Amino acid sequence: MRLRKVKNLEQRMERFRGGLLLEPKPLVFADIFGNQQPVVAEFGTGRGEFILMMARRQPELNFLGVERVDSVLIQAMEKVEGETNLRYLRANVEDLDDVIQESSLSGLYLNFSDPWPKKKNRKRRLTHRGYLERNDRWLQEHSMVQLKTDSKTLFAFSIEEISQTGHMLEDVTLDIAQSPAYEDNIQTEYEERFTAEGHPIYALRYHSKKVKL
Ligand SMILES: C[S@@+](CC[C@H](N)C(=O)[O-])C[C@H]1O[C@@H](n2cnc3c(N)ncnc32)[C@H](O)[C@@H]1O
Repeated sequence: MRLRKVKNLEQRMERFRGGLLLEPKPLVFADIFGNQQPVVAEFGTGRGEFILMMARRQPELNFLGVERVDSVLIQAMEKVEGETNLRYLRANVEDLDDVIQESSLSGLYLNFSDPWPKKKNRKRRLTHRGYLERNDRWLQEHSMVQLKTDSKTLFAFSIEEISQTGHMLEDVTLDIAQSPAYEDNIQTEYEERFTAEGHPIYALRYHSKKVKL
């Protein structure tokens, strides 16, 4: 993602601390949202259009957007218009072990995750088996994970990793626009751009599996 310099970033972030913006410490969702609704996360939420639309569409769920870059996150937070079922966490997904509690998530979206095209960086891909195993810990059993990408490399790699870790692939498509399984799809910022450029969008789903504690 090309990063623009954002004016008064610190001051603008400050406005959201303790409210929309969570601190990276152990998260007790019932306290944070003030209710027991299921919590669905998006890792690498970017400028936040997708998760905001999801929060508006499904008020019966709570949503958590995780993004590591402040200058991007601020743009997501400044779009929010009082939605009470949405929070953001500025963090690297790598560092969430002590932050997200076991079995506390009910769904996960991975939208246009960085593809890390060089093989030597494959462990950084958010669908590397190390991440998939952690997702299984954070998710309740049989929660849905959905991935969308324009990257053939990341898609093929994800299929391999998801299968190899004992998950069943579902709704695999090489063109989301042609797949009835995604007819209620909400496009992300990246997706809008790639679609306008004529690139097909690949997508898949799988369900988390039980973790032995
Ligand atoms: C290619 S952009 C996609 C943004 C958005 N999901 C979309 O589809 O428009 C990837 C985003 O994921 C964030 N990201 C990548 N790796 C991350 C990680 N390990 N932890 C948190 N955020 C990450 C990047 O900062 C970037 O904003």
